Amino acid sequence: MSDTTDRVERLLDELTRDEKFRLVSGAADPERTATGYLPGVERLDVPEFRLVDGPLGVRAEGERATAFPASLALAATFDPELAREQGAAMAREAKAHNQDALLAPGANLVRVPHCGRNFEYFSEDPQLAADLTAGVVEGIHDEDVVATVKHYVANNQESNRTRVSAEVDERTLRELYLPAFRAAVDAGVGSVMTAYNRVNGTHLSDHRELVSEVLKGEWGFEGYVVSDWYGVESTVGAANAGLDLEMPGVSPAAIREADDGGDASPDAADVSSLDGIPDPTKAGLFGEPLAEAIDDGAVSADRLDDMAARVLGQMERIGLLDGDRDDGAIDTPAHRDLAERIAARGTVLLENDDVLPLDDGTDVALIGPNVREATVGGGGSSETTPFRSVAPAEGIDARADGEVTVARGVPEIEDVSLFDLLPYIDDSDEAGGDAETTPDPSIDEAVAAAEDADVAVVVVRDATTEARDRETLELPGRQDELVEAVADATERTVVVVNSSGPVELPWHDDVEALLAAWYPGQAHGDALADVLYGDRDPGGRLPVTFGPEEAFPATDETQYPGVDDTVEYAEGLFVGYRHFDAADVEPTYPFGHGDSYAEFRYRDAESLGDAVRVTVENCAERPGREVVQAYVRPPAAPEGVERPVRELAGTAAVGLDPGESRTVEIDLDDRAFARYDPDDGWVTDEGTYTVEVGRSSRDVRATVETER
Ligand code: NOJ
Repeated sequence: MSDTTDRVERLLDELTRDEKFRLVSGAADPERTATGYLPGVERLDVPEFRLVDGPLGVRAEGERATAFPASLALAATFDPELAREQGAAMAREAKAHNQDALLAPGANLVRVPHCGRNFEYFSEDPQLAADLTAGVVEGIHDEDVVATVKHYVANNQESNRTRVSAEVDERTLRELYLPAFRAAVDAGVGSVMTAYNRVNGTHLSDHRELVSEVLKGEWGFEGYVVSDWYGVESTVGAANAGLDLEMPGVSPAAIREADDGGDASPDAADVSSLDGIPDPTKAGLFGEPLAEAIDDGAVSADRLDDMAARVLGQMERIGLLDGDRDDGAIDTPAHRDLAERIAARGTVLLENDDVLPLDDGTDVALIGPNVREATVGGGGSSETTPFRSVAPAEGIDARADGEVTVARGVPEIEDVSLFDLLPYIDDSDEAGGDAETTPDPSIDEAVAAAEDADVAVVVVRDATTEARDRETLELPGRQDELVEAVADATERTVVVVNSSGPVELPWHDDVEALLAAWYPGQAHGDALADVLYGDRDPGGRLPVTFGPEEAFPATDETQYPGVDDTVEYAEGLFVGYRHFDAADVEPTYPFGHGDSYAEFRYRDAESLGDAVRVTVENCAERPGREVVQAYVRPPAAPEGVERPVRELAGTAAVGLDPGESRTVEIDLDDRAFARYDPDDGWVTDEGTYTVEVGRSSRDVRATVETER
């Protein structure tokens, strides 16, 4: 039983058993804005409770909200304070839409570059993911909305996500996949969403060890554990494993009936046969079946009390039981500005051969299939509909003093969306993309525009969605061909990549400048102009390694996408840069990499034992933003124990004026040196540890040593 307040205790005493069920299983929202809904108990002044997607902005049904950059873009800022600001802004918008819990942040690790939801997650590195997760959680909670960290745990692919079992050893779980969730709990997160997949054979909804023992027991999580939508595997198994809240609790047909009296009943057989689509007949397992299980003694009545208490506890914490929460705010100038700031600061300058920033008067050929629309996000439950969005063409046109010529070059890359895959959602009355009214684009026309301009800016993108993985890391369509043709024709080609994660860049040596700008959200064009013209420093660093497909780990089909509903995490700890370092493979761009328009000098690095200190100077004549990174290299581990070459221990992001120096300290807590031993827990081997301080995982500027 969780620690409950007197008030929650009193409510538990007064609630009937049927009323308790109203707090643990969802119902249809009469306002139809929420993603998940609890009707409350009017008799006892327990209010309604609305849960809403998602991590890139509020997705209240039929409503608009600020569309923030993708979580991966936020992570590229390496700035937990910005994450906190985004969390708070999203929470204010949630309140303005009368929502109480935000289904964010997504804290899964980027294990394979193909995963269709990588844009919703933070990093291949657990420390960075943990720092960003904690930032978003704290921001959401600052505004009295419940944060929901998801998807607990090892939901690292969309292929076969509802069935697949991640076969992963305990050390790897503890060192890679669990830390971001642990950080959320330490930050006081109110809710944890279980993943659809299984871990070592057991569905997460029913995973007693991970839910009851680790999350609630060991970590002391006091909030409620909510299922992913239609993700409860069994009534008794889930209730006894520690799941507290079933969502959405009702079938799509019931939601529709409540809405318009329609009778759109899904064909369950059709749906459950679709890879990645949850089975909507899995609804109501915490209703009547739970009542029967309690009558039979298979689930205890105390467990029902605990479930209800946990939900009530969060309602109380955010002020809902007193009705004294403020109304929030939506689409404010501050939120719009924040969306632009994050998009610009998360933009990573991968290459720059003296082309950027552009002079104001430069004549620009703006090329790319989608330059007339903003890349707001990827498909699925994180889709946010903004009040306005700025396309690259619009943003650059507004900023440029020189001439801007637009040429699309190749046909538009179309968005993909989970909602087009769901047989029980009819979006036919919603507007599709802009109808193509312009003539067919041609690469020749793009090349001609590039030849006539001072600089060619080519914007390319991928298209990904929840419920589908990318089949390849190549850019879709003929975009590589387009870039190559333009790069051949001009000496000044800037390529901007809007992607969900790593993509292959076969032409990266042939272009003069290269930016990774992820899915930038509603402020796409403005943020791009900010960076291209140097109004803002491209402050981003890579939260994921870029490399060709075959250079990544987990290339065997048993490791990904899996065989017989099983995925072997046989690479263990060697994910992302841990793999590239151990295998001594040269990435295209390493983890942590990113240039600035300024230049930085590092000096006076010293170990303080539990921190490392270094002074960073901006030796350029323009302001810039540096992300100081500290990696720990352990001494030789005991016989038979592998350790990564280096692991990120912490970061410090600083903005520096020309000539300015700043001394930064990066904390090195015990965990920075420890490894997880299944028998002994976290252990720190004795010996000399090297702390590398630098600009990326492969650009070390100073080293210090510390004994443990
Ligand atoms: C399924 C997704 O996995 C989850 O992230 C989302 O919050 C729910 N659907 C609700 O839309």
